[in-house]
Amino acid sequence: MGLFENKKGLILGIANDSSIASIIAKEIMRQGGMIGVTHLPDRPDDEKKKNTMRVRKALKGFDDQVKFLTPLDVQDDANIQSVMDEAGREFGEIDFLLHSVAFASLDDLRVPTLGCSREGFKMAMDVSAYSLIAVANAAQSILREDSAITCMTYYGGEKVVPGYNMMGVCKAALESITKYLAYDLGPSKIRVNALSAGPVKTLAGVAAGVREMLALYDGMAPLGRNISESEIANTGAFLLSEMSNGITGEVMHLDCGYNIMGSPGRLTEQIDVGK
Ligand SMILES: NC(=O)c1ccc[n+]([C@@H]2O[C@H](COP(=O)([O-])OP(=O)(O)OC[C@H]3O[C@@H](n4cnc5c(N)ncnc54)[C@H](O)[C@@H]3O)[C@@H](O)[C@H]2O)c1
Repeated sequence: MGLFENKKGLILGIANDSSIASIIAKEIMRQGGMIGVTHLPDRPDDEKKKNTMRVRKALKGFDDQVKFLTPLDVQDDANIQSVMDEAGREFGEIDFLLHSVAFASLDDLRVPTLGCSREGFKMAMDVSAYSLIAVANAAQSILREDSAITCMTYYGGEKVVPGYNMMGVCKAALESITKYLAYDLGPSKIRVNALSAGPVKTLAGVAAGVREMLALYDGMAPLGRNISESEIANTGAFLLSEMSNGITGEVMHLDCGYNIMGSPGRLTEQIDVGK
């Protein structure tokens, strides 16, 4: 019997088949789970409905387990509520919710944090951090006892990662929100955790400069490599399942140990440090 047999939940943040949310969603379904999925609304003039089609393609082969696919802009409270209403009608209560959403305009992301605009900052914080509060609040009435919320974060929220820039500030806020929500939702027996994943080549990842980080993980991480897709699938599913009952408010690192390093470690052998 799979880990997610008889379990139902919401997956927010699939853009295409490389999205972290799609990797985790497919593992949940391989383990027997049923899901409702949201995607960025299609533009009104987009007759091909590209956003919807990319998500359908990403989840091909799991048609029976994807109970609904619906647009969501996390900046719109009424839209968030309508998604929760739909999940309530379809599932009654839900067991898990994955928040795998982030956005910042390139104009604000590709400049030093110092040069980021006020409007760009507000927007990135709204989509990438505040949305976890808005979604968790709206989902309260359908999240059953012992259910789990997981969001996605990156090490740039803890330490300065040049190139990650203001998204690091958003992740610091998201990680703090994770802890405060874990406290607020504790009495309802709802767990809230953040999964801090190593760099992955996705739309959001490449925009935030992760391509440049990949070689660093090979050189610096204690395991001498970056994370694999199956490790993202397994750890994401773990945090959203009963296997992690008792864990809440945690920022869990899935990074082959990169975050424990206080120096470039074995990478030092490859660079001239003036010995
Ligand atoms: N790729 C990485 O290296 C990496 C590492 C650690 C954490 N993360 C985090 O993982 C999460 C998922 O990112 P990804 O790497 O899979 O990239 P992705 O581009 O596939 O996913 C980002 C998602 O956010 C959604 N989104 C953006 N604005 C939205 C809005 N207003 N309303 C609703 N949805 C919106 C997009 O539609 C997309 O589905 C993000 O929080 C990201 O910061 C990524």
